[in-house]
Amino acid sequence: MWKLCELLLVWASFLAAEVSGADRHSRHDFPSDFVFGAGTSAYQVEGAANEDGRTPSIFDTYAHSGLTHGANGDVACDQYHKYKEDVQLMVETGLEAYRFSISWSRLIPNGRGPVNPKGLQYYNHLIDELISHGVQPHVTLHHADLPQALEDEYGGWINRKIVKDFTVYAEVCFREFGDRIRHWTTFNEANVFVLAGYDSGILPPQRCSFPFGLVNCSQGNSSIEPYLAAHNILLAHASAARTYKNIYQERQKGYIGFNIFAYHFSPFTNSTEDIIATQRAYDFYFGWLADPLVYGDYPETMKKNAGPRIPSFTPLESKLVKGSFDFLGINFYDAVKVMDNSRSLDVTLRDYQADTALELKFQQKNSSLFELKPWALQGVLEYIKQTYGNPPIYIHENGQMMPRNATLEDVPRVELLQGYIGALLDSLRNGSNARGYFTWSFMDVFELLDGYDSGFGLYYVDLDDPDLKRYPKHSAHWYSQFLKGGRVDLGSESSIELRQNLTTISPSTVIE
Ligand code: NOJ
Repeated sequence: MWKLCELLLVWASFLAAEVSGADRHSRHDFPSDFVFGAGTSAYQVEGAANEDGRTPSIFDTYAHSGLTHGANGDVACDQYHKYKEDVQLMVETGLEAYRFSISWSRLIPNGRGPVNPKGLQYYNHLIDELISHGVQPHVTLHHADLPQALEDEYGGWINRKIVKDFTVYAEVCFREFGDRIRHWTTFNEANVFVLAGYDSGILPPQRCSFPFGLVNCSQGNSSIEPYLAAHNILLAHASAARTYKNIYQERQKGYIGFNIFAYHFSPFTNSTEDIIATQRAYDFYFGWLADPLVYGDYPETMKKNAGPRIPSFTPLESKLVKGSFDFLGINFYDAVKVMDNSRSLDVTLRDYQADTALELKFQQKNSSLFELKPWALQGVLEYIKQTYGNPPIYIHENGQMMPRNATLEDVPRVELLQGYIGALLDSLRNGSNARGYFTWSFMDVFELLDGYDSGFGLYYVDLDDPDLKRYPKHSAHWYSQFLKGGRVDLGSESSIELRQNLTTISPSTVIE
């Protein structure tokens, strides 16, 4: 009799779960060594831009050019002075890891030469503070902030000289901080950096040429420089990774990786042309960097379409670049449809967009919000698994942009976290080698293009308060609950329930 009751109870709870559609999960559904965190980057969060010996980077120059709605990162969130308070917030939120970047021009003010003791001290303090509170530091070495001195001296990433200077800088980091850092990423979204920095010119170092630039650049060559800069970035990464692997890795027991921005691509129509164009889109946007790292050369379609404008790897370079990573970092925000545009291959004046021979169709948005597309993240992870042999992956960025001063009740951001963390769980169960997830961003930072008009943060920073007080948004509470092992709804269906329950959660409640 007791057995029957037990069976009926199990059956009843199963039915109840089915009826409510509940899909409740917790952090414990993920492997214990899977890591959850949030990220920022040096120029976007640190402030103290002109303090303690730091010199400007190309990010400073860009931010002072007026493109970012008149705002700049001179003060930003002032994490340089408030890092202890911020680490405290990370602990209260339950973050397991913090992704941040080192400002090259704070550590080595002229790009090369003497190390700045104050820069060294700051990063040592930040790293120690994180580790003593149980938060893993995940460090990026270049997040759009090459020292301006090197840009002025020889053109930065378009000059091969950068390979040596970057390697020396990276080695300073490995030597000084490597005893406590297990995860190094050499470059943040190298593909976006070179496209926006050297083709359209809308991001640092703002180089482009007529008629391809989206802004009036004073210098540049959109047809050649994106390829050149990407090539030197790959060589610099490979050189730094070789130094790490040869000298430091065994002793320091860390990992070194490379970050690429990833869209999910799918054909605009079912036509063969659009289907082929979709593969071309993956090649030009992702394979451009991933193929050399995994296979030692650029995708065939790039070499064919870009011809002599894309540099070739010598056999030795190819050998150095191939396999020079322990993990790939992925910044994922959106999916786009791809339409064939092979006719553009005929034009004589060439730029990157013509070489791709495709048109990207971004879905019409009613607002500036990123639409939640969990299938797209799963698709990207599946593509990487199948195309590149399932390397270890960290989702380094994924987040929701909202007007900065909108509200602390950032429901769309919570919906996004629910949807994408749920998608990640499904991908893991399908064999993806994902090892971690970082939401962008830990707090509202100085944003590319938008300055302080929009924010992605779990925490709001009151810029009118001289103390730049931080306030948790609803997303900080939600993430905290999840990270601390609470059962939450994961998946896009959870949003209705979330909206219904919203009133019960006050954003001003102190996170426990
Ligand atoms: C891309 C960049 O890595 C980061 O700097 C930027 O703020 C976010 N994604 C959002 O745009």
